[in-house]
Amino acid sequence: MTRRQVIEAGTVAAAAMASSGALAQGPAPAAQGQPLPDGVTLPSSAPPAPRPGSVGYAIIGLGDYALKQIMPRFAQSQRCHIAALVSGNPEKLARVGEAYGVPAEARYSYENFADIAANREVEAVYIILPTGLHAEWAERAFAAGKHVMCEKPMALSAAECARMIAASERAGKKLMVGYRCHFEPYNRAAMELTRTRALGDLRLIRTEHSYRLGPATPATNWRIARAQTGGGPLEDYGIYGLQAALYLSGEMPDRLSASTFRPEGDPRFSEVFAHVAVQMHFPSGTVAQIVTSYDSAGINMVEARGTHGALRMQPATGYGPNALVLETGGTARPLEPGDPEVQFAAMLDHLAAAIREGTPVLTPGEMGLRDLRLMEAIYAAAASGRSVALNPDGTMRG
Ligand SMILES: NC(=O)c1ccc[n+]([C@@H]2O[C@H](COP(=O)([O-])OP(=O)(O)OC[C@H]3O[C@@H](n4cnc5c(N)ncnc54)[C@H](OP(=O)(O)O)[C@@H]3O)[C@@H](O)[C@H]2O)c1
Repeated sequence: MTRRQVIEAGTVAAAAMASSGALAQGPAPAAQGQPLPDGVTLPSSAPPAPRPGSVGYAIIGLGDYALKQIMPRFAQSQRCHIAALVSGNPEKLARVGEAYGVPAEARYSYENFADIAANREVEAVYIILPTGLHAEWAERAFAAGKHVMCEKPMALSAAECARMIAASERAGKKLMVGYRCHFEPYNRAAMELTRTRALGDLRLIRTEHSYRLGPATPATNWRIARAQTGGGPLEDYGIYGLQAALYLSGEMPDRLSASTFRPEGDPRFSEVFAHVAVQMHFPSGTVAQIVTSYDSAGINMVEARGTHGALRMQPATGYGPNALVLETGGTARPLEPGDPEVQFAAMLDHLAAAIREGTPVLTPGEMGLRDLRLMEAIYAAAASGRSVALNPDGTMRG
């Protein structure tokens, strides 16, 4: 197969990953119920009745992020509510359904999900499943006539993203990626600072998103299974640094180089990488360095440096608290642009508003596709050891 054919088949990431360290791959993913995660607090009383015109969401996948971050934040939303739940664990589904006041007839399994088409209370679904299941469940949701919010990363490959966008177009329904930082005050303030050239001409961006998978991380953790997660830390966590480099520069890179590493003999890394490091060059001359790891002490950092100043964020892209320090003229000034926690409800309300008003979404499927193209280029660059030239849409040139 020539390189072009590989690209056209949409299997670049898989091919590049496979050739850059003989990564194993387990079986294709299937939706399967899981136990209630540790440390979940369920609401002690059901939410109030939805406001008139509120958009009903179905939550698909009652895991850690759904139960600890997204579902509780509906209480702060203005334009949406939880109207249905979808889970493969019937006991958990009943317990969570009771706590959130979701009636039994609006609780679905993965097997009877198609019945949701007849539920007029549900206008959108929020896919909070392992990444390897995003494309399939987005297609199922569109087939049921629903709008889709999909967690990051949008899917495992650009080819899957393209399938999801096509399904959204066929259904005439919206597709939004849950890139919450676009709704988070510190990141929005940072975007505004670079957009208004408060740092002068942007020269350097550095991002690092790392944490350590526990040494005893079980083999059942989907985050170490390539068929569920892709290459690992880049898709899961480094994606925040990739996003930040793009929204702070306001540009698409024209070339990039990268390296990946995985230690031999560590069962956590038989299918995914331990570290990924990326260097991007932008047409303006700005350079970005994006580092991410599944095997080093936690850090969540973004820094942008221009000709006249810098901004530093650490933590940068968390649930909150985040930090933003502006350095200009020899002084460092911490900024407090707002409560980071609003990001969740603002994101949920944004899709609801777009549905009601027919307006475009800020983080559409095309943005998720762009990011998967860049990730495929990153893995191809790492596999070849050479820098990769890019088209403005993120596809590899030549
Ligand atoms: N935006 C963010 O800040 C953020 C943060 C964390 C995670 N995420 C994203 O959210 C998604 C879910 O992550 P998570 O941390 O919530 O994962 P998780 O805790 O493992 O939950 C995933 C849920 O998906 C369902 N599921 C269906 N088939 C599964 C299978 N084969 N293996 C494992 N789970 C399966 C299960 O729900 P049931 O038992 O109800 O069926 C499970 O509880 C991912 O796309 C992740 O990237 C985003």
